[in-house]
Amino acid sequence: MELFAAFILFFTVISLTAADRRFVGPSDTKISVLTCCTALGNQLPGQVVFPQNKSAYSEANNNRWSVTSILVPSCIVQPTNVDQVSTAVKVLTKGVDGNPYACKFAIKSGGHTSWAGANNIDCGISLDLSYINKTTLSRDRTFACLGTGSTWLNAYQELDHTGIAFPGGRCGDAGVGGLTLGGGISFFTPRVGFVADNVLNYEVVLASGEIVHANRTSHSDLFTALKGGSSNFGIVTRFDIAAFDQGRIWGGGIINPATAGAADQVLSALSNFTTNNHDDPLATFGTIFSYTNDSSIIINSLVHTGGTAHPKIFQQAESITPQLINSLRYTSVANLAAEGNSFLARGYRDLMGPITFKNDFSVMQLVQQVTLGAYNNIKNIPDLDWIYSYEPLPKLYTQQGSKHSGNVLGLNRTDSGDLILMMLSPRWKSAEYDAQMNKAAVAWVTAIQELVFLLGASDPFLFLNYADGFQDPMGSYGQANVDFMKRVATKYDPQGVFQKLVPGGFKVSQARASW
Ligand SMILES: Cc1cc2nc3c(=O)[nH]c(=O)nc-3n(C[C@H](O)[C@H](O)[C@H](O)COP(=O)(O)OP(=O)(O)OC[C@H]3O[C@@H](n4cnc5c(N)ncnc54)[C@H](O)[C@@H]3O)c2cc1C
Ligand SMILES: *[C@@H]1O[C@H](CO)[C@@H](O)[C@H](O)[C@H]1NC(C)=O
Ligand SMILES: *[C@@H]1O[C@H](CO)[C@@H](O)[C@H](O)[C@H]1NC(C)=O
Ligand SMILES: *[C@@H]1O[C@H](CO)[C@@H](O)[C@H](O)[C@H]1NC(C)=O
Ligand SMILES: *[C@@H]1O[C@H](CO)[C@@H](O)[C@H](O)[C@H]1NC(C)=O
Ligand SMILES: *[C@@H]1O[C@H](CO)[C@@H](O)[C@H](O)[C@H]1NC(C)=O
Ligand SMILES: *[C@@H]1O[C@H](CO)[C@@H](O)[C@H](O)[C@H]1NC(C)=O
Repeated sequence: MELFAAFILFFTVISLTAADRRFVGPSDTKISVLTCCTALGNQLPGQVVFPQNKSAYSEANNNRWSVTSILVPSCIVQPTNVDQVSTAVKVLTKGVDGNPYACKFAIKSGGHTSWAGANNIDCGISLDLSYINKTTLSRDRTFACLGTGSTWLNAYQELDHTGIAFPGGRCGDAGVGGLTLGGGISFFTPRVGFVADNVLNYEVVLASGEIVHANRTSHSDLFTALKGGSSNFGIVTRFDIAAFDQGRIWGGGIINPATAGAADQVLSALSNFTTNNHDDPLATFGTIFSYTNDSSIIINSLVHTGGTAHPKIFQQAESITPQLINSLRYTSVANLAAEGNSFLARGYRDLMGPITFKNDFSVMQLVQQVTLGAYNNIKNIPDLDWIYSYEPLPKLYTQQGSKHSGNVLGLNRTDSGDLILMMLSPRWKSAEYDAQMNKAAVAWVTAIQELVFLLGASDPFLFLNYADGFQDPMGSYGQANVDFMKRVATKYDPQGVFQKLVPGGFKVSQARASW
C-alpha cells in the first residue's frame, strides 16, 4: 500500500507541468513564506507588517467585518498604489533572487466576507488593499474612479458635495473591490442594474505583474469576466463606475416588532413590491428579520432615489403597525450607508448563505415558517442573533443592467422571472459554537432548497457576495458563463496563480455549472 502511494506520488510530481512545479515549495513552506515576506519588506520598505510589530499587525489583521475571518498571516503587505501591487505580485509569483518557489497569498479590499479564508490566510501573505482608497470624479462628471480598498461610505462622502451619484454598497462599511467583483446590488439597481454592469473600466494587475486596463474596447473578455467573476483573473486596483446627476433621496428604515402577523404583512408587501418594481424603478425595498432572546424585529429598508416621499409603491409597507422606529426622510446615499452599518455591526462571528426562489407570497410564508423552525433548534446558543433577509431580485434588474454592459451572473437566461433573494446571516460570539452554526446553516440551505423545489419555485442563482464557502455561486451562473470565465482565467493567468497561489474566495476552476 505504501509502495503504491509512493508510486502515485512520484508520477504526480513528475507529471506536473513546468508551471505547476514553480508553485511547489520546499517541504518546509514556513521557510518559503518567510523568504517571501523578507523579500517584500526589501522591495516595499515600510509597507510590510510583521507579527513582531504586535500593534500594527493586529490593527491591520483585525480590520475585518467579521471575527470569523481573522486568521494568522505570516506578514501583511499594504501597497498604496498600483505599481506597488505589481511589485508585490512579482515577488509572490516569480520567486525571490532566483529561488524557484512562490508563496500563497490572500487578497483583501474592505474585508467584509465572513467565511475564513476568503480574504485572509494562515501561513501565507495577506495582501491588504485598504490603502488604495482614492475616490475622484472624472472631469466631465460621467464616472467616478474608485480605489478598490475604499469603503463605500468613504467613496460616497468624498463625492457627496458634487451632486452626482453612482451605484455601490448599501452598507457603508463594505469595500468597493469585493462587492463590485461579485456583481453588487445597490439602491440604484432597479434603475441601472447591478453595480458591475456600470463599471466602464477596470485597472488590473495580472498574474505576471503587468498592469492593464479592461474595458469595452481593450481586453473586452477580461472586462466581461470581471462582472461577477470575483478574484479569478487579476487584482483590480481601480474601478471607473458610471455616474449621474442625483438630487435628494427619500428613504430610511421602519422597524416593526416581528410578530407573526407583521411578518406576514411585510412579506406580502415585499412580494407585491417585487411584482410592481418596474412601475417605479427609482424605488428599492428590502427587509431584515432579527431574532434574539430578548427581541425580535423586522427592519425594512425603503429608499426612493427619485426623491419622492411616500411613493405609492411603499404604501403597503408603510402602513404596517406598530412601528418601533421610522427614519424615513430626505437624505443622502452616504447617510443611508452609515445607517446600514448600525444594523449589521462589526465584531461578531458571522456566516452568510443565500438562496433564490420565485417571487410568490405563499412560498415566502412557508420559507418563513421553516426558517423560524431552524432558529428554534439552536436558540440556546449564547448571544445568538438569528438574522436573515429577503430582497427583490426582479427581472427588471437584469433588463436595466443589459442596457449597460451586463454581467456573467447568468440571470439573463430566459426562464428567470421575478425572484426573491434571501440571505441567512446569523451572528454569535464564541468560537465554541462555530461548528454548530455552520451545521445549522447547511441544514437551513438544504431545507429551503428542498421546500422551494417541492413548491416548483426553485431558482439556481446563488449571489456570490452573500455566499459561504460551502456554496458554489460561480457554478450557479450556468455552463456557458463558467466555460467563458475558465477560458478568460486561462488566457490572462496561464499558470493558475489566482486558482492555486490565491486559494481564498470562489475559484472558477472548482465551479460546477448547475445548469
Ligand atoms: C453588512 C453587510 C452589508 C452588505 N451589503 C451589500 C450590498 O448592499 N450589496 C451587495 O452587493 N453586497 C453586500 N454585502 C456583501 C458584500 O458585497 C461582500 O461581503 C463583499 O465581499 C464585500 O466586499 P469587500 O471588498 O468588503 O470584501 P473582501 O472580503 O475584502 O473581498 C471579497 C472577496 O473578493 C476578493 N477581492 C477583494 N478585492 C479584490 C480585488 N481588488 N481584486 C481581486 N479580488 C478581490 C477577496 O479576495 C475576497 O475573496 C454586504 C455584506 C455585509 C456583511
Ligand atoms: C510598527 O508598525 C508601525 C506602523 O506601520 C510603524 O510606524 C512602526 O515603526 C513599527 N514598529 C516597529 C518596531 O517596527
Ligand atoms: C485611506 O486609508 C487610510 C488608511 O486606512 C486612511 O487613513 C485614510 O483616511 C483613507 N482615505 C480615505 C479618503 O478614505
Ligand atoms: C480602455 O483601455 C485603454 C488602454 O488599454 C485606454 O486607452 C482607454 O482609455 C480605456 N477606455 C476607457 C473607457 O477607460
Ligand atoms: C400591491 O401594490 C400595488 C401597487 O403598489 C397596490 O396598488 C396594491 O394595493 C398592493 N396590493 C396590496 C394587497 O396591498
Ligand atoms: C437564551 O435563553 C436560554 C434559556 O433561557 C439560554 O440558555 C441562552 O443562553 C440565552 N441565549 C442568549 C442569546 O442569551
Ligand atoms: C447573457 O450575458 C452573457 C454575458 O454578457 C452573454 O454572453 C450572453 O449572450 C447573454 N445571454 C442572453 C440570453 O442574452
